[in-house]
Amino acid sequence: MKWNYNIIDNLDWGKNITRLEEKEKVANAIAAMVKNGECLGIGSGSTSYLALMKIAERVKKENLQIRAITTSLEITMACGRLEIPTAGLETGRPDWTFDGADEIDPNFSLIKGRGGAMFKEKLLINSSPKTFIIADRSKMVSRLGMNFPVPVEVFPQALSYVAHALKMELNPREIKLRMAEGKDGPLITENGNLVLDVWFDFIPNHAEKTIKHITGVIESGLFIGYNVEILNP
Ligand code: 5RP
Repeated sequence: MKWNYNIIDNLDWGKNITRLEEKEKVANAIAAMVKNGECLGIGSGSTSYLALMKIAERVKKENLQIRAITTSLEITMACGRLEIPTAGLETGRPDWTFDGADEIDPNFSLIKGRGGAMFKEKLLINSSPKTFIIADRSKMVSRLGMNFPVPVEVFPQALSYVAHALKMELNPREIKLRMAEGKDGPLITENGNLVLDVWFDFIPNHAEKTIKHITGVIESGLFIGYNVEILNP
């Protein structure tokens, strides 16, 4: 049964999309790869959103039957609006996944999580036999941490302990609690947690594991040495 007033019918990305032309190019490349019957893992962010729009065009035109496993509410809602059925990772597994990134270094290690969805993004990428990272040219950096902090999702009561342990173990330049937009106080993730944005002058290769070992850390946005293929415009 349909809602009389479906609030998601009028939703769009809701913000200005930077480097739109470049993002649309990689979005088109992703859409061209989709095959009938596939289950797709869909990451978060504006580039993933644009790719989903392009996929939906093909679904409609060619009557493709696909399913999506999503990493954030924004993409789940977009799938709902586009009538693309969604599945959960509890029972489903993607044939392949695509996702965006904030930074990509020459070894294809990544910083992700500007959108605060890095826990589910990492879970999906680890669950997927193949992942494409779609990114405009501004995301390519000579070393991680140049333009973006490393986001760390933290169980709320562990906030001060995690900040202290991060400082002791990795000596970052700055640690900031991410604040919400459109709500007073800190950002709350879809998992009910907080996010620390951690700025580094240098990110050692062991940083991802070191951060993950701190009690209270749910996940970080560092993806060091993952088996991903980068698609640039
Ligand atoms: C969200 C992410 C995004 O993939 C990343 O921030 C890139 O976003 P955009 O495609 O809007 O540049 O990791 O958590």
